[in-house]
Amino acid sequence: MSAQHPKGGKIPYTQSMMNTSQISQSMRGYAFEPKSWENRVVLITGATGGLGAALCHRLGKAGATVILMGRHRARLEGIYDELIAAGAPEPAMIEQDFKETTPEILQGSADVIMQNFSRLDALVHTAAHLGELTPIQVIDDAQWREAFDVNVHAARDLTMACLPLLSQTTRASVLFTLDNRTSAYWGGYGVSKAAVTALTTMFADETDNLLDDNQHPKVAIHGVQPGPMRTRLRRRAFSGELEHESPLADEQAGAFCYLMDRVEPNASGTIWMES
Ligand SMILES: NC(=O)c1ccc[n+]([C@@H]2O[C@H](COP(=O)([O-])OP(=O)(O)OC[C@H]3O[C@@H](n4cnc5c(N)ncnc54)[C@H](OP(=O)(O)O)[C@@H]3O)[C@@H](O)[C@H]2O)c1
Repeated sequence: MSAQHPKGGKIPYTQSMMNTSQISQSMRGYAFEPKSWENRVVLITGATGGLGAALCHRLGKAGATVILMGRHRARLEGIYDELIAAGAPEPAMIEQDFKETTPEILQGSADVIMQNFSRLDALVHTAAHLGELTPIQVIDDAQWREAFDVNVHAARDLTMACLPLLSQTTRASVLFTLDNRTSAYWGGYGVSKAAVTALTTMFADETDNLLDDNQHPKVAIHGVQPGPMRTRLRRRAFSGELEHESPLADEQAGAFCYLMDRVEPNASGTIWMES
C-alpha cells in the first residue's frame, strides 16, 4: 500500500524525528540591527499580549510595519499608540477573535494584507487561550473546544492563508509559540499546545520543497518554546507566583528576532526550547 504525497511522489513511511534545539545564549540576547526591517511587513497574533507586544516593539524599532492582530479594539489601539509614540512606522490593526473565526475569514485577512501592503515577511503566532486548568474529565466542553479553536484551528487557518504571500518575499518566516504542558490539569491548553508543536513540524516538512535561488527554504517555519514570562497568561496559570519570579516578556523575545532574521538561512522545522 502506498499513498500519494501532495508534493508529488509517495509519502515516505518513515518515523519523523522531531528536530529540537536549545535556545542558546546568543539567540536569547539577539537584537535586530536598527532600521534592518524597514519596508518589511510582519503579522503578529496576540499583539496585545505580553510577548506579542514585546515583539511589536522590537520590530517597530527596527523599522518594520507591524500588523497587530487581536480581539479587543481598545487594547489594539493601546499598542498602536505606543508604537507611534516610539517612532515606529504606522502599524495596521486587524480585530479578530479567534474563537469566532473561520478559514474564510482569515483568508480575508490575508487578502487585506495583500491589497494594502503587497507583501508579508513574517507571521508570528503568540495568541493563546488558557481556559480552565482542570482535569480533562470534568472540563467544560466549551472551554476545551475554545482552546483548540484559538490555539490550533486559527493558527493553522491563518498560516495557510498567509503562506502564498510569505513565499513571494525573501527570507520569510512563520513562528509558532509553544508550551510543553502535558501533565495533569493543563486541560485544553496543554493538549492544544502539544498539537501546535505537531502543526509546526508538519507545516515545515510539507513546505521544505519551496526553495529560493540559494536553495534555502523560502519560508522558514519554527516553533519557539519560551521560558516563563511575566504576562497575564502566566499570572492566571501561576496565581501564587510573585511578580519578580518570572522575567519580562522582552527577555524571551531575542530568539524570535534571531529566527525572523534568518541568521541560519537554511534552518526550518526546529522546535527551539528555553532550557
Ligand atoms: N507567559 C509564559 O510564561 C509562557 C510560557 C510559555 C509559553 N507561553 C506562550 O507565549 C504566548 C504568548 O503568551 P503571553 O504569555 O504573552 O500571554 P498574554 O499576555 O496573556 O497574551 C495572550 C494573547 O493572546 C490573545 N488571545 C487570547 N484569546 C484570544 C482569542 N480568542 N482571539 C484572539 N486572541 C486571543 C490575548 O488577547 P487579549 O489581549 O485580548 O487578551 C493576548 O494578546 C502564548 O502562545 C503562550 O502559550 C507563555
